[in-house]
Amino acid sequence: MKQLHYVCQEQELRPGDRRIIRVGKKSIGVFNIHGKYYALLNVCPHQFAPLCQGTLGGYCPPSDVGEFRLEREGEIIRCPWHGWEFDVKTGRSIFNPHQVKTARYPIHVGSNDEANEAGSPEVETFPVELKDRSIFVEL
Ligand code: FES
Repeated sequence: MKQLHYVCQEQELRPGDRRIIRVGKKSIGVFNIHGKYYALLNVCPHQFAPLCQGTLGGYCPPSDVGEFRLEREGEIIRCPWHGWEFDVKTGRSIFNPHQVKTARYPIHVGSNDEANEAGSPEVETFPVELKDRSIFVEL
């Protein structure tokens, strides 16, 4: 059965930020990309580097000679060991998106009470103001 696991308070993960958390034996990277949250397994499928510790940037799509376009700035993570690039939103690699990818996980944003009502007894609770919302990863 899948459960929700606490990541952090929403205000602690600003656009461009990331958190790396451990859930059991898994290391998970949680990202805020332009105000939306994404979670990836922190393992590169090449040689198992901690992918989510890589740099975030954009990528250059195919273009004409002499033309240079950088797109999707802040959405592409570059593996710290050998530079393979992955789309944080999908977990798919840039160079072979259908075969080379890392696992991604759903994110939920809500109160701790809502997470507990969803049947996740492992969620720790923290004293928060009513306006605060928490980020949870589901796996
Ligand atoms: S381990 Fe990630 S590119 Fe080699």
